[in-house]
Amino acid sequence: TQVLILNGPNLGRLGVREPEIYGHQSMAELERAAARWGADLGLEIDVRQTDDEATLVGWLHEAVDARAHVILNPAAFTHYSYALRDSAAQVTSAGLLLVEVHLSNPAARESFRHYSVVAGIATGTIAGFGFGSYRLAVQAISDKLAD
Ligand code: DQA
Repeated sequence: TQVLILNGPNLGRLGVREPEIYGHQSMAELERAAARWGADLGLEIDVRQTDDEATLVGWLHEAVDARAHVILNPAAFTHYSYALRDSAAQVTSAGLLLVEVHLSNPAARESFRHYSVVAGIATGTIAGFGFGSYRLAVQAISDKLAD
């Protein structure tokens, strides 16, 4: 079973970007951790990051065609990208799981972060646990597939 962990803009700067909010670990460390979580649960995990909206949209189309489940941290696109929402909607509409994740808890931050255009079409959302948000999302996909 294939799982794509897709990350939006500025998340390539993890570890150096506002570490008091996003932690001290890098995207490379997330990739290594995710490979371990996947190996433990028998999932094939592919971690990607882009600052580009069109690339993210293309990866979501790819997930549908490859029948891959998705863990999506849309970063700032969360709050305003209807294009991303529409491509994410195709994933769940195809019967695949899509877990929205955030490192921080956007509900506890500035008001512009309180609304997610993706949340309404996601299977579920996990926010506020740093890298643990991704780990919980991987576990949630594994559990739901075993149901
Ligand atoms: C984020 C939260 C967003 O509001 C922000 O724009 C990000 C990261 C998070 O993981 O906490 O870039 O998605």
